[in-house]
Amino acid sequence: MKVNFEHGCLELLRGDICQEKVDAIVNAANAALAGGGGVDGAIHAAAGPTLMEECRLLGGCPTGETVATGAGRLAAKWVFHTVGPIWQGGDSGESKLLASCYQTALALAGQLGAESIAFPSVATGVYRFPLAAAAAIALGVITRHLKTNSPPFRIRMVLFDPTTLAAYQNALGQFLDPGQAIVIN
Ligand code: APR
Repeated sequence: MKVNFEHGCLELLRGDICQEKVDAIVNAANAALAGGGGVDGAIHAAAGPTLMEECRLLGGCPTGETVATGAGRLAAKWVFHTVGPIWQGGDSGESKLLASCYQTALALAGQLGAESIAFPSVATGVYRFPLAAAAAIALGVITRHLKTNSPPFRIRMVLFDPTTLAAYQNALGQFLDPGQAIVIN
């Protein structure tokens, strides 16, 4: 599904983020940028060894922040490595840190001039952030961004399984204006 905003569009789809033809692909990394399973493992496998070489040079990334590398063999220009919070029950600043993942990734895209970006569902896998809450945080930040006139203008949430896609679809309504059209494709 797709929703148009004054300055861009948001797409929610089921898919493998490694296949995305966008300027920047976001990776759900860990603070050591050491690679791992889940989407991190899939992106490193698809991009090839140069991604890990670049990550080693960066030396890490604090939780809630985002750093950029090249994208190796992927079609994208950059991989943005963002570090979600490990869920610890909700009283350790997890929500703010997750919002910051999306905010810092969008700000970095703006600085680099990335016009399109694809996000996975950050922190809802190995890091166990509750899905409905994570979807609302992600879509709140993204829909606010799309009301400003700054890149990226095309934002894709690429969700790996039907349960995750449904959670994001359910959360979307609260961020739309009355009468704002959702295009189903
Ligand atoms: N494309 C899109 N989404 C994917 C893909 C893929 N190819 N593979 C997995 N996912 C989804 C998962 O199904 C989940 O919905 O990405 C979401 C995030 O899950 P994780 O990859 O486990 O990320 P996260 O919860 O942020 O945990 C990060 O996991 O792999 C390690 O190194 C990583 O330590 C870090 C931690």
